[in-house]
Amino acid sequence: MAEPAGRILVVDDEADIRDALEMVLRYEKHEVATAPDGDRALAAIEKDPPDVVLLDVKMPGRDGIEVLEEIRRRRPGLPVVMISGHADRSTGWEAARRGAFDFLDKPLDEGQVLVTVRNALAMRRAESEVAALRGKVAERWRILGTTSAIRDVLATVEKVAPTQARVLLTGGNGTGKELVARNVHERSHRWRGPFVEVNCAAIPRELVESELFGHEKGSFTGAVASRPGKFEQADGGTLFLDEIGDMDLSAQAKVLRALEEGTIERVGGRGPVPVDVRVVAATNKDLLEEVAGGRFREDLYYRLAVVPIHLPPLSARREDVPLLARHFLEEACKRNDLEPRRRLSEEALALLSRQEWPGNVRQLRNLVERVAILCPGPEVGSADLEPYLAPRPQRPGDPFTGCATFEEFKEQAERMFLLQRLEENGWNVKHTAEVLAMQRSNLYKKIEKYGLR
Ligand SMILES: Nc1ncnc2c1ncn2[C@@H]1O[C@H](COP(=O)(O)OP(=O)(O)OP(=O)(O)O)[C@@H](O)[C@H]1O
Ligand SMILES: [Mg+2]
Repeated sequence: MAEPAGRILVVDDEADIRDALEMVLRYEKHEVATAPDGDRALAAIEKDPPDVVLLDVKMPGRDGIEVLEEIRRRRPGLPVVMISGHADRSTGWEAARRGAFDFLDKPLDEGQVLVTVRNALAMRRAESEVAALRGKVAERWRILGTTSAIRDVLATVEKVAPTQARVLLTGGNGTGKELVARNVHERSHRWRGPFVEVNCAAIPRELVESELFGHEKGSFTGAVASRPGKFEQADGGTLFLDEIGDMDLSAQAKVLRALEEGTIERVGGRGPVPVDVRVVAATNKDLLEEVAGGRFREDLYYRLAVVPIHLPPLSARREDVPLLARHFLEEACKRNDLEPRRRLSEEALALLSRQEWPGNVRQLRNLVERVAILCPGPEVGSADLEPYLAPRPQRPGDPFTGCATFEEFKEQAERMFLLQRLEENGWNVKHTAEVLAMQRSNLYKKIEKYGLR
């Protein structure tokens, strides 16, 4: 396949060299511009940015090194190839230090010129692909909101992300903790590294250690092969310890040791292994309360909460509701290929802004997606929303009149009670189960039994 051509700027005070390079490069279908000195080169770059610059070291007026420095400052992504003569070969080192992409020696070798230009173009393309990808990632994890609460969160994220500091995210269900964790990773120098997520509440107690730190083959029944743990998987990146408040005390001790020593030990392993991991933790519990109750280690708390970030409930930032609702609606339409595209009426937006949102942003997002799919559109009015917002209709009159036996009465009472609490908690089953101090699996069974959803 033919290599794609590029736009090359040739900068040299000698007309012969400019002409020779221009001819060689044009022959390979590159677009070529030329400049006889540094000032005109910089002007050309401003006016019509090239993909690669070939720059003579020795020129009257501003010399090549100076021009190189200026280009690096103005356009850090633009590769510059320096051209040096016999007398100034040592300057090459200086140029390398200042970020030249490569060097060519005079007299110029045609083949070498073309290879170097091709390499520079390839790097340039790779970099712009990475930049485009980064843009997409940034879009995917954008934190929306203009209220001061969200602006504060964003400002803190911007400050803390490029550092090594551990971050503790607190806030209710669906307030955006994971989203913020992603932002901390994406805006850090670790962004090329992995982002590894662990839901501490979901790992059975006896597997926590092997899940986090890995194990060697045969170290326990079922350990049929050696496996790295989440800490090792996150090496060079970010480890997101979600629901850290649900981690039991013995696992907490092990995590603390890993954080203090910067090493981990696989179960059945032969010794400590260094890992370079930045930990971001999240919880919807009040960890200080957990500390006071002896359920969370205080030393671990302070290790994790170097920079705490609290995500306020959506009801404390109602002004963001319209913006979020519009965004989620557009997203839902795109994802589900909904035509015509839906839009929310002003009344509908106002109605949404007045809701309590116990399930916070996630609840809003889910509701908007449901409405987008179920409403014919194009405009979603407040009347279209009502059925999804209003409490579910109950039997008219005495809810227990239909109950013949004590057993039926108990069931009916249970049904109503659970329905009401689920509604109050934005249908977050996990949270509702916690509030009611019942097993989550049990609550799921009841939902099924009574057909609550
Ligand atoms: N400010 C925001 N802008 C855009 N989207 C948001 C914002 N906050 C939350 N979301 C979206 O809402 C959903 C829930 O957010 P996320 O998963 O980060 O919440 P969480 O706090 O981790 O919830 P949980 O405690 O239940 O795990 C996600 O789809 C997320 O992208
Ligand atoms: Mg989460």
